[in-house]
Amino acid sequence: MNPLQPLSLEQLSLNRYPVTHDKSLKAWNAADELLLEHIQSLFEQQKLSLSSLNCLIVNDQFGALSISLNEVSPLFWTDSYLSQKAIQRNQQSNLENNIKASPFSPSQQSNQQKFDLVIIRIPKHNSLLKYQLEQIKTHIHRKTIIVAGGMTKEIHNSNIKIFESVLGKTTTSLAKKKARLIFSQFEQSHSDATASQELKYYTLPQYQVTACGLAGVFSRDKLDIGTQVLLEHLPEVNQGERVIDLGCGNGVIGAIIAKSQPLCQLLLSDESQLAVESAKLTFIKNQLSNADFIHTDVLHGVERNSFDHILCNPPFHQQNVQTLDIAINMFKQSAQCLKSIGELRVVANRHLKYLPLLKRYFSQVSSISNNAKFTVWLAKKSKLN
Ligand SMILES: C[S@@+](CC[C@H](N)C(=O)[O-])C[C@H]1O[C@@H](n2cnc3c(N)ncnc32)[C@H](O)[C@@H]1O
Repeated sequence: MNPLQPLSLEQLSLNRYPVTHDKSLKAWNAADELLLEHIQSLFEQQKLSLSSLNCLIVNDQFGALSISLNEVSPLFWTDSYLSQKAIQRNQQSNLENNIKASPFSPSQQSNQQKFDLVIIRIPKHNSLLKYQLEQIKTHIHRKTIIVAGGMTKEIHNSNIKIFESVLGKTTTSLAKKKARLIFSQFEQSHSDATASQELKYYTLPQYQVTACGLAGVFSRDKLDIGTQVLLEHLPEVNQGERVIDLGCGNGVIGAIIAKSQPLCQLLLSDESQLAVESAKLTFIKNQLSNADFIHTDVLHGVERNSFDHILCNPPFHQQNVQTLDIAINMFKQSAQCLKSIGELRVVANRHLKYLPLLKRYFSQVSSISNNAKFTVWLAKKSKLN
């Protein structure tokens, strides 16, 4: 059988999602290239063979790995809705009717499923890496090849220690084009530890709310200082009003509103599955029930013209890359989902130039708080409804 030839990234037409106008941002980087080169060499050395190879790809961002290795029929696992969307869109545009890679969810798969090859892009948060390795551990065998990749600035000794403590002996490659690989060997002696999901809590006595955060969730062990400023400028929410906590993370903003006005109706949305699960846990922990939760990109699928308030501490990074694209989508879709009398409140670092972006979609934008680090923006009178 011919060794696998991964599809060349240069020849594929891969786009980021959300689509960006910043031409300097690509949908793959040197870490993806190095991983693919290494996988190809394993086939050439006959350490891997295409016949009955079970392959899992973790944290593929935009499909570079899943699409290039389509012939292997890999499963891909990501916490991010944006990545799932990117992979599916790039599959459709590059592979048409020959899509062989499909999504994987450890909670829905039986432990009988064992992978021979596991390829991991190092996630931004160590807690997420640890959680993912613990889940993967129940799906591998002694001979599974485990290779992880990242840019040198994303790989630290702490990552390597996590591989060693969860899986076993771990080594690294030399850097190439500022990317590096991590090789880990699963040692059976590490198989006894149970796959645990570490939950972090913090309590805000002034609001009588406890927030719960799963692995990788934004500011899961303490209140973010930007969020704290936004909490000081929450709207007065009336009985029966509908409120969105957009990019909810652990759901702390939504929970505080639900606690103060039990007769409002909340919607909490996030693109991270673990964030949405955390927000649900926060509501359970605080015995709050007046909320719906949605795992989506911004507010896709949410009714238009139907909400009174939206609260948001928008991200200005996608993985490790700074971008305004997500904030812009959040402002635009907020303008679509708010009623004509509805209001959006946004907290942002002072250096972020959100005023002209908010003015694209709202007729009235003012700053209602300004300190040395943060501005809280109030946007009213949507131009889109
Ligand atoms: C700065 S954090 C704020 C989290 C939480 N609201 C808080 O204040 O602690 C931004 C959140 O937006 C989420 N996010 C990023 N991109 C998103 C998107 N396209 N759609 C929905 N949520 C997104 C992130 O997962 C993260 O939880």
